[in-house]
Amino acid sequence: MAAFRARPAYNRAMTISSPSAQNTIRPLPLSIGLLGMGAVGTLMASHWRQHRVFALPRDQTSAVTLNLYLPENKPAEQTRQWQLPCWQGEPLDWLVVTTKAADTLNALHPWLGGLPQVKNLLLLQNGMGQQQQCADWLAQQQRPLRLWAGISTAGGYRRAANNPQGSEVVYAGTGQTIAGRWAEENPAADDNKDSTPLPPGIEATSDIHHRMREKLAVNAVINPLTAVHRCYNGELISNPLYHSQLQALATEVEALYRQLRWPLPQPLHQRVQQVAQSTATNRSSTLQDILAGRPNELEFICGYLQQQAQRLGHTLPLTTQLMRQLMQA
Ligand code: PAF
Repeated sequence: MAAFRARPAYNRAMTISSPSAQNTIRPLPLSIGLLGMGAVGTLMASHWRQHRVFALPRDQTSAVTLNLYLPENKPAEQTRQWQLPCWQGEPLDWLVVTTKAADTLNALHPWLGGLPQVKNLLLLQNGMGQQQQCADWLAQQQRPLRLWAGISTAGGYRRAANNPQGSEVVYAGTGQTIAGRWAEENPAADDNKDSTPLPPGIEATSDIHHRMREKLAVNAVINPLTAVHRCYNGELISNPLYHSQLQALATEVEALYRQLRWPLPQPLHQRVQQVAQSTATNRSSTLQDILAGRPNELEFICGYLQQQAQRLGHTLPLTTQLMRQLMQA
């Protein structure tokens, strides 16, 4: 369980020293708000248990109980349950949003009055389009927050469980979570002075736009195909029909990326195969949403690429066909 093995809890946290203990480095806990208590939110919050973490629940009043199941731990340590108090406007180093992309602004809006208390806002979600919407919205609201965007490949899903909440998040595999500044062009006034470390479990990157586009390309192939065929990620390789569709769709997305001059570090079909292989027994997030009857994020994955294509007068016939199939399903 690499992601949950003992690790320095405050590995990138601020440090203070006191005259009586010149060489003692004592990290300050971060204060972190969490908006979106789904699989990604729960997995991330499990890294932050030694910090001050607040929930931003829909009802704006209740504490939230998180339940996490770690299948690879010893039986006695497989279940973790902990509570987050509801945020009452305390100063926050970070507000981390892990809602579905489409819900970003609706979820943030009720908390608008508290945003002056927030130093950094991180959108940690699948998909693209919502980050710029959020940057524009913050500018309209005259909230000069430092906006960050992040992506995570940590695997998890929610399932029914015998606890008072009736469900738990199952940890389904180690992944990497990275984040970088989204809107460098509109920095907050005190930008240069801020040295708040990222919340634990998240690595900083200076090229988040690039990294997000790479992930978007993979999601634009795996997610619609697994959703249409209602299959595990690995079946996109083991089933010859699905595999040929994977290759055709990867070729289509790659051609658009070439036109957009968005470089990819390796042939897309190769990358998609690697990801499908390493997550073979997982259901994609889109398929999980569809099976649970929740709205899915394809508008912010395939829909975002369709908008980019339209701008260039380029078409994405396979993507369009898959989106149509899913709308009719
Ligand atoms: O959206 C997802 O499910 C994941 O990003 C991925 C990489 C497709 C694996 O399931």
